[in-house]
Amino acid sequence: MACQSDGCLGDRFYVLLTCHCEERSDEAIPDNNVKIVPMKPNTSTQPLIEMRGVVKVYSTAAGDFTALKGIDLQVGAGEFVGIVGKSGAGKSTLLNMITGVDDATRGEVVVHANANSVSVHELGEDELALWRGRTLGVVFQSFQLLPMLTLVENIMLPIDLCGSFHPRISRQRALELLRLVEIEEHADKFPALISGGQQQRVAIARALANDPPILIADEPTGSLDSVTAEHIFEVFEHLVTEQGKTIVMVTHDESLAARFTRTMRIADGELDSPPERTLNEAKRRTKDASGLDMREKNARSTRPSARRAGRSRK
Ligand SMILES: Nc1ncnc2c1ncn2[C@@H]1O[C@H](COP(=O)(O)OP(=O)(O)O)[C@@H](O)[C@H]1O
Ligand SMILES: [Mg+2]
Repeated sequence: MACQSDGCLGDRFYVLLTCHCEERSDEAIPDNNVKIVPMKPNTSTQPLIEMRGVVKVYSTAAGDFTALKGIDLQVGAGEFVGIVGKSGAGKSTLLNMITGVDDATRGEVVVHANANSVSVHELGEDELALWRGRTLGVVFQSFQLLPMLTLVENIMLPIDLCGSFHPRISRQRALELLRLVEIEEHADKFPALISGGQQQRVAIARALANDPPILIADEPTGSLDSVTAEHIFEVFEHLVTEQGKTIVMVTHDESLAARFTRTMRIADGELDSPPERTLNEAKRRTKDASGLDMREKNARSTRPSARRAGRSRK
């Protein structure tokens, strides 16, 4: 499906949302349902996500257009990587390569997570959907909540479809996730009755539904006012520092660049950092950032009531 608008994901959204599990048992689905590409065992030096020479060429009526020109990127566990670039730079295309929503023209994306090393574009459609549901949570600029379901039902749906958790606890888990993003009191409302910032909190909770180690966020603050965007960004920071999630976020907002544990820039389908520097730099910055996070956390813990009490949820 050709769709160039960030807000227009159409079928892609439903592919990302669902796991297409053919059978749902009371037990967690065994790992051998996903094709494992033989590789070295996952070690602390191994990145979670590796993009190797990824090229994406779109064929259009006007001719071929190269949207990604050989992307090399490594993302380590616990990083909060920001990829900053203008509209049309290739940000969404890059994320679509990691999620496997779109085929790569050349190159490879390997994800080492949940004790598996998976070459994303070698998976078949069903394997890919299952792997994606358990490995990646995706957050979009336009929230993409299902309007006919309540907030808690929006989160229960991917839990029930994927079968990672017993159906009896899916509502309880959904409520816990809504509590994590501080929106639990609205659990039984429909999306149209809450604000954009609140909808984005729900979308983040939905992305966490099957406890994926990685979150992929495509301009998640892009349609929010600056105060609300700040609150949403804090939710992502919390997920990295407190929940141990790894996040790759793309944005055109230069003001966010200093906030990530590592920031890369993309322009005309090319990333700015040389590939051989990326992992070491990532490790150093993640270490620095975690030090800062602890200091900030300690500072906050001395004034929790002031911070919480003065904050209205956006
Ligand atoms: N399905 C498609 N077919 C043809 N061209 C596309 C398609 N998707 C994106 N593009 C083009 O690829 C370039 C990068 O798009 P995109 O990754 O969406 O940019 P960004 O997310 O940075 O705004 C743009 O020039 C866009 O027009
Ligand atoms: Mg985009």
